[in-house]
Amino acid sequence: MSDGLEDVVAARTVLSDVDGKAGRLVIRGWTLDQLAGRTRYEEVVRLLFDGFFENLPEDLTAALGRARVEVFNEVQAVDDGLLALGPVEAMRALTARLADGDDLATALRLIAAPAVFTPAIVRLQAGDAPVAPDPALGHAADILRMLHGKAPPAGHPEALDAYLVTVCDHGLNASTFAARVVASTRAGLTSAVLAGISALKGPLHGGAPGPVIEMLDAIGKPENARPWIEAALDRGERLMGFGHRVYRVRDPRADALKGAVRRLAEESGRLPGRLAFAEAVEAAALAILKEHRPNRPLDVNVEFFTALLLEALAFPPATFTGVFAMGRTAGWLAHAREQLAGGRLIRPQSEYVGPTPRIAA
Ligand code: ACO
Repeated sequence: MSDGLEDVVAARTVLSDVDGKAGRLVIRGWTLDQLAGRTRYEEVVRLLFDGFFENLPEDLTAALGRARVEVFNEVQAVDDGLLALGPVEAMRALTARLADGDDLATALRLIAAPAVFTPAIVRLQAGDAPVAPDPALGHAADILRMLHGKAPPAGHPEALDAYLVTVCDHGLNASTFAARVVASTRAGLTSAVLAGISALKGPLHGGAPGPVIEMLDAIGKPENARPWIEAALDRGERLMGFGHRVYRVRDPRADALKGAVRRLAEESGRLPGRLAFAEAVEAAALAILKEHRPNRPLDVNVEFFTALLLEALAFPPATFTGVFAMGRTAGWLAHAREQLAGGRLIRPQSEYVGPTPRIAA
């Protein structure tokens, strides 16, 4: 048995390939650097959905815009109980109100769900009215507009697009595996996506970037990095935004996102200090992790620069996992359809190590 299913191949996919030794991510025949910062999210949705959904509309931007308008109706169902939850749990609860199905219309509503529900919940929790979607806008620009209540500054939609594209799919990660297991039972796409959101929420998977901000804030200045990190490791804690099950070198998504933060910094002229500080913490963390665990290569992962980019786009840290879901839902859906098309029910075995049955006296 392999602990944590490490190195077990549990699916065949045409969707993405994670090469952990080379530090390379390929999405349907394109390397990450060919896509991130060069492609809009809608184009990557088409890339992932091609062949898995029939009759993909010519204008996917408009179709997604209509889906955002459709799911916005669910925001009326928000009550005090739901607003008492964290934004990811509240977004998941609203998503659970969407009907199950296997068709493209269901899939587009599921992509729209985190994009519409997360900003609406954050605004309602702050005592502000939710902002209705504008179907004429691109997906990324409309997300930022729904969150902040005004047109986003130049460069911000492009930066969010770069993020959504970077995280759209990533082999058989925990949430995608969960989504495929549920899809294999033929429960429907909504059920598969709910499984994905639930798995993504944990800090060992997509829940790390919020704690990255907490770590940066607690460190405060570059000279505090070493003592703070050493104390955390001595307490047996893990550094959020470092380490990966598959990558033994740098996660290529980290640099795709660092590039997006840099481009934003150049445009706004505001970010360089924060970026330089984060780079100082990153350098200290890498050096100390090497000293602490010389036999286990631990490098930076996608979550470290996710935190910096989403902070620069003024997403509150509590929404970071919901923003991850905005990108990853396309991958979950394509994997669910791939599983349905060719896969059998996923039903592995367990090894019983409990007591042997008692013999009746
Ligand atoms: N900080 C300190 N030590 C670490 C870290 C870390 N970030 N990551 C792994 N280690 C150590 C472990 O303590 C373990 O040491 P041990 O053998 O002495 O017990 C060793 O490295 C191996 O760790 P595993 O848990 O076996 O590695 P696994 O492949 O299961 O974990 C994971 C990968 C969960 C990402 C891990 O590196 C981690 O917890 N990172 C911090 C959380 C994080 O950044 N999550 C986001 C991941 S990216 C994503 O999913 C989108």
